Amino acid sequence: MYINSLYLQNFRNIKNANISFSPNLNVLVGNNGMGKTNVLESIYFLSIGKSPRAVKDIECINFEESNAKLGLEFIRNKTPRKINLNLFKNQKKTLLLDNMPLKKLSDIVGHFGSVYFSPIELQIISGAPTLRRRFIDIINCQLSPQYMDELFKYQRAIKQRNNYLKAHKTNEYNTELESWDIQIASLCASLTKRRQVFIERLNGVAKEIHKNITNNIEQIDIKYISCIDDIKDASFDEIKTQFLQKMKQNFEKDRVLEYTSFGCHNDDIDVKLQYLKDNQVIKTINIKKSGSQGQQRTSVLSMKLAELEILKDEYDEPPVLLLDDVLGELDKDRQNALLNYCKNFQTIITCTEWKYKIDAKIFEINNGVITLKQ
Ligand SMILES: Nc1ncnc2c1ncn2[C@@H]1O[C@H](COP(=O)(O)OP(=O)(O)OP(=O)(O)O)[C@@H](O)[C@H]1O
Ligand SMILES: [Mg+2]
Repeated sequence: MYINSLYLQNFRNIKNANISFSPNLNVLVGNNGMGKTNVLESIYFLSIGKSPRAVKDIECINFEESNAKLGLEFIRNKTPRKINLNLFKNQKKTLLLDNMPLKKLSDIVGHFGSVYFSPIELQIISGAPTLRRRFIDIINCQLSPQYMDELFKYQRAIKQRNNYLKAHKTNEYNTELESWDIQIASLCASLTKRRQVFIERLNGVAKEIHKNITNNIEQIDIKYISCIDDIKDASFDEIKTQFLQKMKQNFEKDRVLEYTSFGCHNDDIDVKLQYLKDNQVIKTINIKKSGSQGQQRTSVLSMKLAELEILKDEYDEPPVLLLDDVLGELDKDRQNALLNYCKNFQTIITCTEWKYKIDAKIFEINNGVITLKQ
């Protein structure tokens, strides 16, 4: 699939823009703070109905305005499609697919797919677990509306349970808490199962890509780390029961902390690097602890490219690749590996300077005003 055009009104510092993209490579050049990331953010927003960086939608509306409009025309399966999103300061956002209003946010899933890659993602391995959880959640939201629904329900339930703990300062595990925990345990079990299955899939794809990038010298091995044990062969009910028991056991701690300290909102992934000789593993290291910065970056690249491949597989068409200032962070070999990959996807790259001699449609951005350069 590819984007034909993007329309933005009052989206952050972009007052008005109508951009016609090439189905191949597009480059958006501009100095710092001009609005490059804002453009990519708006496109990603239209994939999942949420910003990849804003905590609240309202942050995306221009400071001086009370609403923002985003419109995307794209081609999917040779057919023109359209997504429109309206953001309001005092009202719920509205989403339209081919001019038809969508009832819930997750109805957007499965129509327009994109992969967003920025320097923050380069820290998926070296950085905090939040980054790794966001990585897993964001892909799964693009893969499954059920996942998105469950994740939102789970986040809401945890927030309400935390509010309850704060407001009531209850000393006893009561029926109200138990009813929260039954709901939370069920959502936790489902999300955990889905994540574990997804990580197995990601591992298979990323392993092959990583071997390719490193000429069969290294491979990676990704595992889901759940807050409960032995999830691999456990059924949904077994996992749910374990969660419920642990939540009850944790009540005393939560009561003191006044927040929910146990649950899949604390899960993580573990990435190992395996050295290969004649296709056999000869040594394994923990990349986060012992990998070089270069090895960590190559591993992230393999994971992001695997995300791209998985979405392509799921959508039956290549998703759009959004590269936000990421090339400058990579060395020559990794830049080439990434640029080589771009050939198979519509790609939009942002940078402060474009120095490559590759065919591309080039735009300039200056204080939110976008002009076609070449
Ligand atoms: N709601 C908003 N209303 C108006 N302007 C905003 C809003 N949110 C952010 N901005 C402005 O957008 C600009 C930042 O845009 P963006 O992050 O896209 O820049 P960039 O070109 O990617 O810069 P860099 O090269 O540093 O990454 C800042 O000047 C910021 O003040
Ligand atoms: Mg930026």
